[in-house]
Order: sequence, then structure tokens, then C-alpha cells
Amino acid sequence: MEIDLHDYIATTPDFPEKGVMFRDINPLIGNGAAYRQAINQLIDFARPLHPDIIAGPEARGFVVGSPMAYQMGIGFVPARKYGKLPRKSVNAKYGLEYGHSELQMHVDAIQPGQRVFIVDDLLATGGTITATMNLVRQLGGIVVGTGFFIELEDLNGRENIMKIDNVPFKALLEY
Ligand code: PRP
Ligand code: ADE
Repeated sequence: MEIDLHDYIATTPDFPEKGVMFRDINPLIGNGAAYRQAINQLIDFARPLHPDIIAGPEARGFVVGSPMAYQMGIGFVPARKYGKLPRKSVNAKYGLEYGHSELQMHVDAIQPGQRVFIVDDLLATGGTITATMNLVRQLGGIVVGTGFFIELEDLNGRENIMKIDNVPFKALLEY
């Protein structure tokens, strides 16, 4: 029986700052059946796009991308927050619903021409995911699609992705 994943998202108003409705995925990933369903639904979307590799941003993108990659038998590339990677890296700065940040990827993490499916837990303004797309493209990768547990529709993240590239898009839940 299909689970309604909405039942596993906890909403907290005014976190981490006033005016933000924080959508917390911890109940979802804390429940084996809900987590498995969410991961399998994103895999069903990603598989026909034939990715060679999955990429996801620190930290919550790892929780989505790693089990997908494991199940699909392909690799996972983390986009790390600035200063965490030991070897030569490419960088992308971005704005967030709350604040600014910078992501990095090792220069040898993706080979030119590799097909990359990019995931995260949640799409808000799109800053994080477009920075991850930017890193993949700096390395010569082809972004074949994007997938999320949650899309916050009012923040226009999907439009911001499509400004860069009209890639296949999947969000399991919309708020
Ligand atoms: C959150 C979330 C997404 C991003 C979405 O991560 O996990 O990565 O914000 O916002 P955007 O679409 O406006 O970029 P956060 O930067 O809070 O880091 P965390 O995963 O380490 O908690
Ligand atoms: N990341 C950016 N905006 C967010 C929100 N409203 N809830 C959870 N994570 C977020």
C-alpha cells in the first residue's frame, strides 16, 4: 500500500529565522517504509534517464543520493560545503532562503560526458541545486535530470533550474 509521504514531513514555523516554514524530512528518513518508498519513487524517475552517476549537495542531499546510487549500482558524488575537500576542486557560490554558501566538487569527481542525475531533499530558491548543476557542468558532465523529496512552490526554484537548462524534474511533495 502506498504511504502518503506528507504524513512524514514535520513543519516548524519561523525556523531557522522568522518567516521561514521549515519542512523537516527527519520523520520520513526515520521510517523505513516511507524512506524506501521515497527513494524508490525517485529511482523510478531517474532510471529511464540512464545516469552514470548521482550527485547531491551537503548535507541532506547525501541522504537522498547515496541510497539511490547504491540501489542503482552507480556512484555518488558529494558537492561539499567550502573547505571540506582535500584535493583540487571547482567552486560555486549561491544564495539561500536564509543566507549564502559555497559548494565544491573535486575536479576528478565527474568525467567529461558523464550523465549526472542531481538530487536534494528540498528545493526552495534553487540556489543550492543550480550551484550543484554549475559544478557538474564545470567538470564537463551532462545534467540529465533533477529530483527532490520536496518542492516549495512559492520560491520559484523550478523556474531557476529551467533558466539554466530545461532538464527533467521530479518532486515527490509540493508545499
Ligand atoms: C537546505 C536544503 C537544500 C537547500 C534548499 O540545505 O537541504 O539543500 O537548503 O534551498 P535552496 O533551494 O534555496 O538552495 P541547507 O543549506 O540548509 O544545508 P543542510 O542540508 O546542510 O542542512
Ligand atoms: N531549506 C531551505 N528552505 C527550507 C525550508 N523552508 N525547510 C527546510 N529546508 C529548507
